[in-house]
Amino acid sequence: MAINIKAGWPLEVNPNAPAHSLERKQPAIDDGLDIPHPSRYYSSEFMEKEWRHLWPRVWLLAGVVSDIAQDGDYTTFEFGPESFLLARQADGKVKAFYNVCPHRGNRIALNERGSVEQFTCTFHGWQFACDGKLKTITDENTFNPKLIHHRPGLTEIRCEVLGGIIFINMDGKARPLREYIGLPAGYIENYEIDKMNVVHHVRSEWAANWKTGVDAFYETYHLAFVHPQTQTVMEDFSQYDLYPNGASRMIVPLCMKSHRVGDQDSVDAGLRFMMQDAGMDPDGYKGNAQGVREAVQQSKRARAQRLGLKHYEKFTNGQLTDSWATGLFPNVQMGMHPEGVFIMRFVPHATDPEKFTYDTMIMYRHVDDKDYTVPAWMGLPAGIDVTGQTRPNIKHVPLGQKPELGEVLDQDSDLLPVVQQGIKSRGFRGPLWSEQETRVRHYQREIDRYLNDEK
Ligand code: FES
Ligand SMILES: [Fe+2]
Repeated sequence: MAINIKAGWPLEVNPNAPAHSLERKQPAIDDGLDIPHPSRYYSSEFMEKEWRHLWPRVWLLAGVVSDIAQDGDYTTFEFGPESFLLARQADGKVKAFYNVCPHRGNRIALNERGSVEQFTCTFHGWQFACDGKLKTITDENTFNPKLIHHRPGLTEIRCEVLGGIIFINMDGKARPLREYIGLPAGYIENYEIDKMNVVHHVRSEWAANWKTGVDAFYETYHLAFVHPQTQTVMEDFSQYDLYPNGASRMIVPLCMKSHRVGDQDSVDAGLRFMMQDAGMDPDGYKGNAQGVREAVQQSKRARAQRLGLKHYEKFTNGQLTDSWATGLFPNVQMGMHPEGVFIMRFVPHATDPEKFTYDTMIMYRHVDDKDYTVPAWMGLPAGIDVTGQTRPNIKHVPLGQKPELGEVLDQDSDLLPVVQQGIKSRGFRGPLWSEQETRVRHYQREIDRYLNDEK
């Protein structure tokens, strides 16, 4: 039976969750009380340290399997100074390479996505099979055989797939992904992201350090001040959980009012909308506002049974309404829902510590039923094909333009450059993180472990 949570601090979404439940509050991890020096957010030295000690050693979320469904499909992943090539193999596996020609360093794939029999370099026409092996060298007889006797192919890097997501690692000696990721088995897999498709992809440039970005998305402490409109449908005391190796999660309860709202009883427009969004008829609901979350959970459960959506059986009732915002160390957050997953990547700029790319992919699992529609939280523009038939092109948004990611995210994009400027002030002594910002301290501490070569 569903439990209606009582908002308050510290929030525990389900105090009766059994020990094995993924919903259960995690034991605390002590990351200390240090106040880090603010230069980590703007200095070139710190950025260079990250390029040397952090980025080449961590597993990076590089793409999703549904983007390269067939043999010969490929996609690229741009990351700072690097570009990577992910290619589906004849045996169904995925391989990853540096997107670089071994001859003179030209890029191999120039498009964001495509499908090929083999890769052909656009400079001198060398050809490579999808598994990276060299196929042909143009005018091979003009090379001294000693120079090419090793048959130089594309340089492969570590690549692993977990629950429909492709990760790469530049470090040949890195721990296996499963061990690195820090989340319990099933946590990601239960969502069956391999059955979802990218339905919207926006890549926007922001004038802030990538960590200024992650910090803002790792807490709901700022909701009441930056996004007050969310109070009618969302609690802003989240359940914060830390996992090993820098991973973390916050459970943001939806379909309820924030504890900051005086009237906890009347069902007003926001909650009515949430019911409708979940396929319910709000006019048929006779309870008060505090019962809406549970009613939506029951309705979604019944709908999933009717439609034969087996994967719902693995979800707790809370997972049917709440956002499980999950942090993958170091630069990813995924807003996880049974209907879809919102993946955000904070991609550092290659040379400027005060710029990052906010790369957002909305993944949706299409269900062909009139009562099953795309949830409004996805903020999809009208007229988008959500059936998975068309993979939308990436929308690139240059610096200074609104990313148009919906009201909430556009509010963040206005805020962050201002915060970035304040952090650089001589008057700022470093962040003072509350227990609502424990995820921020957690991943920042883990970064320090990499930079100090403790990892
Ligand atoms: S650089 Fe690729 S063939 Fe010359
Ligand atoms: Fe925000």
